[in-house]
Amino acid sequence: MTKKEILAFAESELHRELFPLELLEILAEKFPQKVCFSTSLGIEDQLITHFIFKNEIPIDIFTLQTGRLFEETEQLLEQTQNKYNQKITVFEPNQTKVEELENEKGKFSFYESVENRKECCFIRKVEPLNRALENYTIWVTGIRAEHSENRQNMPLFEWDEAHQMLKVHPLLHWNFEDVEKRINIYQIPYNPLHDKGFVSIGCKPCTRAIKEGEDFRAGRWWWENSSKKECGLHQ
Ligand code: ADX
Ligand code: SF4
Repeated sequence: MTKKEILAFAESELHRELFPLELLEILAEKFPQKVCFSTSLGIEDQLITHFIFKNEIPIDIFTLQTGRLFEETEQLLEQTQNKYNQKITVFEPNQTKVEELENEKGKFSFYESVENRKECCFIRKVEPLNRALENYTIWVTGIRAEHSENRQNMPLFEWDEAHQMLKVHPLLHWNFEDVEKRINIYQIPYNPLHDKGFVSIGCKPCTRAIKEGEDFRAGRWWWENSSKKECGLHQ
């Protein structure tokens, strides 16, 4: 399908304000074998995973195993696959690149500058992501507008110029309570760190709990001063 046709599809769906589950079903039907979902195993991603697995929607799910994740996140990956008896494909960084980085700059170079941080994110997340997205047309994410100032104005359907594919954020306009309610009703497994003040969870050395009233993503790369803190997965 051409870019023009994909964008025409997005334009026609935009006005229907579909429930996320219906949107996932439509995507899978319209783009067979061409839809993937990236999960960080965060709370909103667990809800999307539930929609996909529970309803056996033919959407491939993958996760980027950076090598610096919390043990709780790694355990949740196993628990989720066991609960639904389905696979989440794991992508890992190129080990030679990780070795080169650590031998040259040490294991914590990301604290020293934004440039170093982005270098580590590129090696551990972006390069594996590029491999994970190969051969797909649609990339589903768990991004919500409430996450940060930078995500407030993101559209539901977004053309990803770098990967030449359509990014779709089915939970974009859902708030945290909407997500939490379903997690409880459907008894979906979630990361126990969420109950300890970790709202947005990434790599262990780059994530901390947030305090009352702080921005959702304040605990990510907290030593950096910017409202546009992204790791390169999303611009
Ligand atoms: S990040 O770019 O800052 O790490 P965030 O944690 O807010 O992103 O998650 C936003 C979305 O990016 C998730 O819903 C998921 O689709 C994707 N994502 C983030 N981290 C990963 C990961 N490790 N593996 C797969 N997808 C991820
Ligand atoms: Fe590296 Fe931190 Fe980025 Fe993880 S979040 S890839 S540890 S800089």
